[in-house]
Amino acid sequence: MSLIRRNFDVLIIGAGGAGLNAAVQLAKADMRVAVVSKVFPTRSHTVAAQGGVNAALGNVNDDSWHWHMFDTVKGSDYLGDQDAIEFMCREAIPTVYELEHNGVPFSRLDSGKIYQRPFGGQSRDFGKEQASRTCAAADRTGHAILHTLYQQNIKARSHFFTEYFAIDLLQDAEGGVTGALVMDIASGEPMILNARATLLATGGCGQVFRTTSNAHINTGDGMAMALRAGVPLQDMEFFQFHPTGVAGRGMLITEASRGEGGYLINSEGERFMERYAPSAKDLASRDVVARAIVTEVREGRGCGPNKDYVLLKVDHLGEEVVAKRLPGIRETSKIFLGVDPAFEPIPVYPTAHYVMGGIPSDRFGRVVAPAHHGPEEVVQGLYAAGECACVSVHGANRLGGNSLLDILVFGRLSGLDILEYLGEHPRHRLTDSSSEECAMARFQRFDISGEGITVAELRSEFRKVMEDHAGVFRTDEIMREGVDKVRDIRHRLEDVRLADTSRTFNTARIEAFELENLIDVGISIVTAALHRKESRGAHSRPDYPERDDRNWMRHSLYFLEEDRLDYKPVRTKPLSVDSFPPKPRVY
Ligand code: SIN
Repeated sequence: MSLIRRNFDVLIIGAGGAGLNAAVQLAKADMRVAVVSKVFPTRSHTVAAQGGVNAALGNVNDDSWHWHMFDTVKGSDYLGDQDAIEFMCREAIPTVYELEHNGVPFSRLDSGKIYQRPFGGQSRDFGKEQASRTCAAADRTGHAILHTLYQQNIKARSHFFTEYFAIDLLQDAEGGVTGALVMDIASGEPMILNARATLLATGGCGQVFRTTSNAHINTGDGMAMALRAGVPLQDMEFFQFHPTGVAGRGMLITEASRGEGGYLINSEGERFMERYAPSAKDLASRDVVARAIVTEVREGRGCGPNKDYVLLKVDHLGEEVVAKRLPGIRETSKIFLGVDPAFEPIPVYPTAHYVMGGIPSDRFGRVVAPAHHGPEEVVQGLYAAGECACVSVHGANRLGGNSLLDILVFGRLSGLDILEYLGEHPRHRLTDSSSEECAMARFQRFDISGEGITVAELRSEFRKVMEDHAGVFRTDEIMREGVDKVRDIRHRLEDVRLADTSRTFNTARIEAFELENLIDVGISIVTAALHRKESRGAHSRPDYPERDDRNWMRHSLYFLEEDRLDYKPVRTKPLSVDSFPPKPRVY
């Protein structure tokens, strides 16, 4: 097979907000930048982010990055690294202004300033009253940002490999990354992309769960590639369930609907969040609201014929507010539920939304991992940013509006750090032949037809197992069973057969690669979850109901090769201010 080889200064895998914000910094500095995306860039999942991006601009009332930092540390249930959180909250302000100057069409206040809405877990003056910190473009903020960044990249001449699927990273003899083997989805042809630096910006892995707000493309590809390259995944037990997904289907109904004044009720018409979070109520942190909804349903106060959802009311806001501030969720509700939220409540239930864990990276996007049981070191030539990375700024629970912020801040910083790295590393490093052979073997892995299980069958079994065994509430027994089942599914991946092994437009082949990625990432989630014996943030264990700061102020690290876990301490020291010590987390 002839193998096309291309050389670039930088390879960026993923064209969402993180990848594009890194690419634009590099392309503007005249670097040769290749951006590989399995979908057209503006279909990346950033496009689906609805409610907005947090920055303490203080446009609605006084605000400060320090209060934003306090909320983020508390929201993380004290597992976030405080130096990285301080950095992100400070950087939020110039980052949003840069977006505004680059043309993002933010909604406006009457004063002409960027519109900011209240979101969950936000406060002023270190917890005293609700803040309005989320900068929004109606409820289509991600859409507005992604299109702007794509246009900026076209202007800066980034080179896009659109509808190319990344198979695996390539490495030199010392484990440094030298690029990737990718595949042209249309022709099925492989291609080697060599680069002096490679940035993984492939987004999340919500497709591990059956009910998710995530797009079909969110299959954890970058995380699984990192695992196979010997890099562990950090804090994978922390998976966020967004409280308000479309009931039974999972699409996102933005937190902005509660930020704009909406609230949840149970079958008795009760505003039940008043019992779970007397002060913040419906704007408590996401983990708190998701658990409350599941508890209401489990205790028999769910709505509908099967009593399996609660209702989100925004109809009291009036049609004008719904049309102006929440047009996207109005459309979603009408299409998927036949419900117009301007006039009737929306049936909602928690949906798998966001992984707090990911590829361990520092705040400059450099991947930092212990090699072969040794101390932590930077993996040469490898960067990660956005949801696939774990910096860690979200700890055990991310605040709404901090996801767009994370991808923008750390995408940008990765781009700038790569620029320095390229200055210090003027030559391409040599790919080790065994690494290329491994990647090619994986590329040919699903060249098998005949009798066997289909990708679709195994995938739906896997996603149901993950939903049943790694959901909102987890016990030892449930997770132990989950680990066994997922391991068994990984074993049965060997039996997967494609109906058609031709390469051209073979989407089943891509789905097989994606399923392998999902399973590797799924194993990291259930394994890390089983071993964390406490409840913290999104990891909630009725058998260990308390947070255990004495034993568990630690990040988990899961290694694929030996199926093993290791741990490292949380960085509790910020850059310039005093630490926020762990406290009981009440809203
Ligand atoms: C939302 O709008 O509720 C989702 C945004 C986020 O997850 O930060």
